[in-house]
Amino acid sequence: MAPRERIIIPLDMPDLARARAMATALAPHVGAMKVGLELFNAAGLPALSELVATGARVFYDAKLHDIPNTVAGAVRAVTAAVPGLWMINVHTTGGSAMMAAAVEAAKGAEHSPLVIGVTVLTSLDAQQLRDELSVSCTPAEQVVRLAELAQRCGLDGVVASPLEAAAIRAACGPDFLIVTPGVRPAGSDMGDQRRATTPRQAVDNGSDYLVIGRPITGAADPVAAARAIAEELA
Ligand code: C5P
Repeated sequence: MAPRERIIIPLDMPDLARARAMATALAPHVGAMKVGLELFNAAGLPALSELVATGARVFYDAKLHDIPNTVAGAVRAVTAAVPGLWMINVHTTGGSAMMAAAVEAAKGAEHSPLVIGVTVLTSLDAQQLRDELSVSCTPAEQVVRLAELAQRCGLDGVVASPLEAAAIRAACGPDFLIVTPGVRPAGSDMGDQRRATTPRQAVDNGSDYLVIGRPITGAADPVAAARAIAEELA
């Protein structure tokens, strides 16, 4: 895969006009566009449809987390409304029946998207996991446990921190996709990310795709920022 194809841009923006402009500028320099909760709740399905129509790979970061029947219904609804979605995700903590229902619904679509599972949000650290969520093992142990569960349920891969990518790769093998937010070029602002590392380190750890938002979309020159990261990966 060419280095630039590893980069996924989260279009975390409050309106479609801004997202469209960012996607148009960055498309030749990156691998995919991600529509997450902010843009989807601002612009809805047309945001997905319009981006798919440009020929871009589109990852709908839906982060579905509900009972199996409801999650399956959501996957069926969005894949029918937006044929050609590249990737969609669910929370692995919804459990095995929910993940299996999501996979079955995706497989039933005319154009099946990849289905991946969010493990532990990259904004959570070990202390929060322990004190707030009663997860007594390390973030890496929890992530690997959830990744193995996702793989058993037929998911194509997981979302995790690049700090856990090597452990996931060792546990789940070479073909399981690892998508990592929590990527920060050296010297850039961490924002709310807690378990983060550099683009180069993320790929060396085994990440397939890097979700890199604010260091690119918030830069004075987003195209230059994306190109610099692709060069770092080459
Ligand atoms: O701007 P930044 O690079 O932090 O953006 C990261 C993106 O990845 C956001 O769109 C966020 O919703 C998403 N994400 C994340 N952590 C996860 C899953 C998704 O940061 N575990």
